[in-house]
Amino acid sequence: MTQQNKKPIAFFDSGVGGLTVYAKVKKLLPKENCIYFGDTKHMPYGEKTESQLIDYADRIFKFFEGENAKAVVMACNTTSAITYEKLKDKYNFRIYPIIQTVSARIAKLENLKRICIIATPATINSHAYSKEISKYNENIEVYEIPAPNWVKIVEEHRINHIESIAEVKNILEQAQKHNPDKIVLGCTHYPYLMNILKRFEAEEKFIDPSVYFAENIKQDLQNNGLLNDSFEYEKFYVSSNPENFKTASELFYKLKKLPELKNV
Ligand code: DGL
Repeated sequence: MTQQNKKPIAFFDSGVGGLTVYAKVKKLLPKENCIYFGDTKHMPYGEKTESQLIDYADRIFKFFEGENAKAVVMACNTTSAITYEKLKDKYNFRIYPIIQTVSARIAKLENLKRICIIATPATINSHAYSKEISKYNENIEVYEIPAPNWVKIVEEHRINHIESIAEVKNILEQAQKHNPDKIVLGCTHYPYLMNILKRFEAEEKFIDPSVYFAENIKQDLQNNGLLNDSFEYEKFYVSSNPENFKTASELFYKLKKLPELKNV
């Protein structure tokens, strides 16, 4: 193994959402060293402007550059939609944006005629999913539905509140009106809501893109001779409120200690 292989894979999101991706990648690649940055100070990303999102992502990329990352996982649909094209040629590490990476897989699923994307307002306004999916399959009808409050429900530990259940049901019903064959959870926070979602729709109807994403990341690292063979560390950082992050994360990834506070 070279020093390059031992370098970490770096993940980021606005908060705990990216851990849904992190957990899947760790399962497929347990020997990788990893770092994770949750930009909790700027959460929710889905309500931010393009220039704000580019500024946040650029600072995080610089931090990852300083940490010697061999690859960066944009475990956030919103930043993948808004910032990837602007930043992709600026850094030397490999960059994996979730939407652009998984859309080919989604577009090639069998018997898919109508699909609904539920995502943050910024992702929906960018139409990134419909643009990417239509590159691979022009015959799929794509309906896009914003879910403005779902991220905060997860981050503020309100998953089981009556109002949260009503909010999730209300958005889901807007998707169901289109009679979709599949519903894409187009924000990495949304798998935290699966226990509510499956009360109102069959679990098989939902696509959690992180499943495809993790497989593609593994494949690409393998193809480029970048896999590691001995795990040494994983490190978690947040830009505010480490306690909140640790509590909110528990459904997907149990942190052994509080994440380190870091302003990038
Ligand atoms: N989890 C992120 C996403 O996939 C960001 C959500 C947010 O902070 O609004 O879009």
